[in-house]
Amino acid sequence: MADNIVLGIKKEDDPSENRVSIVPKDIKSIINLGVSVQVEENSGIKAGYTDDQYESSGAKIVKKLSKEVNIITAVNAFYNKESNFIQNSSVISLTDIRTDQNISKICTKNSLSLLAMEFVPRIARAQKLDALSSQASIAGYRAGLLAATSLKKYLPLMMTAAGTIPPSSILVLGAGVAGLQAIATAKRLGAEVTGYDIRLAAGEQIESLGAKFISDEVPEDSETSGGYAKEQSKDKQTSQLEFLKEYILKSDAVISTAAIPGRKAPILIEKNTVEQMKAGSVIVDISAPSGGNCESTILGESVNINGTIVHGPKNLSSEMAYDASLVYSKNIYGLLEIIIKDSKIEMDLEDEIIDAMLVFQNGKKRIEG
Ligand code: NAI
Repeated sequence: MADNIVLGIKKEDDPSENRVSIVPKDIKSIINLGVSVQVEENSGIKAGYTDDQYESSGAKIVKKLSKEVNIITAVNAFYNKESNFIQNSSVISLTDIRTDQNISKICTKNSLSLLAMEFVPRIARAQKLDALSSQASIAGYRAGLLAATSLKKYLPLMMTAAGTIPPSSILVLGAGVAGLQAIATAKRLGAEVTGYDIRLAAGEQIESLGAKFISDEVPEDSETSGGYAKEQSKDKQTSQLEFLKEYILKSDAVISTAAIPGRKAPILIEKNTVEQMKAGSVIVDISAPSGGNCESTILGESVNINGTIVHGPKNLSSEMAYDASLVYSKNIYGLLEIIIKDSKIEMDLEDEIIDAMLVFQNGKKRIEG
């Protein structure tokens, strides 16, 4: 069988991105789909994957992807707006297409077909492809560790010869994929953990991890049919802030993960609440890239406000790039299995996964963000 599809693994342009879109372990399975693979040199090195490993798995190491490439894979293909794209190729990547108009221009100009990994539908058949979940889970885990190492305290109850030290209390705001992983991590480390979410369904999941669930009055229509939270009314936002303040002030660390797809993150921690927290407290605001849940968050920075450290991490999954790449690579492989049939690329629009993810087809926009 002649290889007629060439897949190119793009080296990430963002200097702060450590992940790689496909790991050596998956190259053989991709080749078995009837595809040959090129990888830009040193694409995986920051994640812990060497060119030798790619080469011995059957990939060709290149300085720049060649014009024969039909499918480009990346974590963030559109970081550099000046990047040269191969005309008529298909790009598989996470994107900011909802907020970045330039991406549409690049797709049109280069007649690209774009499969946006953040648009994987949340249906059972697509779980294997769910990059938002695979990366959020890592971010939640990392946030738990960051909270633990930033505190100047033990997490578990410690009985020592010098006396008994009480456990740290950690509050997790938002209990989606990242929040639940943060809860699980903080629990494993021995903290007393409390979880909060606007979706009542999250309560059971919080409790199943052994954490305490707190809930205020939640409007019945706080959730979309797809299981996502809706933006709350102004009144609800005000009462929510009041309700949460008491719990925030009692906590040693707050990990905030609340998000609304495609919108700015909701504010759950006001500046004056941060100012009143115990000195030595910690906030890890995972939602920093979408605006932050805390008014004091600065993206990419850790600020000290009256002794409280507020972390606004930019890209927590990239900090654990080996495993983050491993699972992202599996997500992409799951998609390749769907679009490659008999060594040909087939974008079957009858397939609800492709219908949901194919934002551009041959340079034409087919999904509005
Ligand atoms: P997300 O990243 O969009 O949001 C994180 C959390 O913030 C969510 O739990 C949301 O309810 C919460 N939130 C939003 N506004 C809030 C507010 N004002 N106050 C408190 N909490 C607020 O969510 P994620 O992690 O992407 O998951 C969203 C939903 O999708 C969940 O129901 C999850 O269980 C479901 N899901 C389903 C999957 C599947 O069926 N394949 C896979 C992954 C997630």
